[in-house]
Amino acid sequence: MNWDQARKLLHLSRDELPRGQEQVPSQPRMQSESPMVPRAGSLCVASGKGGTGKSVFTASLSSRLSRRGRTLIVDADMGIGNAHILQGVAPERSFVELVAGTAAPREVVARCDDRLDLIAAGSGVSSMAELSPFEMHRIAEALEQLETDYRYLVVDSAAGVSNQTVAFAAASDLVVVVTTPAVTAMTDAYAFIKVLLRSNPSADPLLVVNRAHSFEEARSVVKRMETVCQRFLSRSPRWIGWIPDDDAVIQAVNARAAIINHDPSAPAAKALEHLSMVLLEEFDRTRMRGLGRSLLSRVSYSPKLA
Ligand SMILES: Nc1ncnc2c1ncn2[C@@H]1O[C@H](COP(=O)(O)OP(=O)(O)O)[C@@H](O)[C@H]1O
Ligand SMILES: [Mg+2]
Repeated sequence: MNWDQARKLLHLSRDELPRGQEQVPSQPRMQSESPMVPRAGSLCVASGKGGTGKSVFTASLSSRLSRRGRTLIVDADMGIGNAHILQGVAPERSFVELVAGTAAPREVVARCDDRLDLIAAGSGVSSMAELSPFEMHRIAEALEQLETDYRYLVVDSAAGVSNQTVAFAAASDLVVVVTTPAVTAMTDAYAFIKVLLRSNPSADPLLVVNRAHSFEEARSVVKRMETVCQRFLSRSPRWIGWIPDDDAVIQAVNARAAIINHDPSAPAAKALEHLSMVLLEEFDRTRMRGLGRSLLSRVSYSPKLA
């Protein structure tokens, strides 16, 4: 991959893009192998860059999914995450206690409402951003235990392309990459997709453009992403929709709430409602592998050798 070339392409305006780089129509996926789904379907919300709207997206999507079935938010922005704030809860325990071995998996689960739970990331613990294989193993084991209690797991990712961040995405059944029209966000989204596909070549990343001011602007972001991804990765993320830049989102964040609940008629809330429907359909045709189980197979820690 030539990084400079990729960056240059992302800077080009829509009219300057090479022709013939339209999005490849999505391929239908295989039906779930078994009608019985023993483990939760998992979805990772990722981006590469911070501040693109991962937590805003996670809050509304999880709330919407929970109407269909019990849902667990996994705040994987370890040590600094704020997913709990957008659910208006202040959990006493988090992944920090789980990793330290001072709390059992079910003890770190906080209740947001009847059908929505959350594991908080903990705050102000920088060592959580670089977990050892043993610590990742503990998290994977905990998720493996918990995922049979839920229909959906939604991972609110950290920014960046660290092994730990990419491992959560690579182990998830669905991955949504959230970018904004900012060139830095697109560049980091591309970098994330590249590292994800290296880690899990069968991943089928889905793309959402957040904070666009029009459909045209969102479409132009998608064209640029597709062009660069096709050229350097020979693959494209699948565009599933966009969310307008909307002050109502900022008001919902300040009210510590998911916008689809706080202001359901706001344009951003309607877009998130639509995206949730699209993702429910994706889940219906995706084989659930089990996030904890997949993560366990990716963590290089072996208890026997320890
Ligand atoms: N669609 C939007 N319209 C307006 N502001 C938004 C939108 N999406 C996100 N924001 C703003 O961006 C901030 C960062 O979003 P957040 O979801 O916390 O990012 P991330 O989790 O990717 O770091 C939010 O607090 C909000 O102020
Ligand atoms: Mg966040």
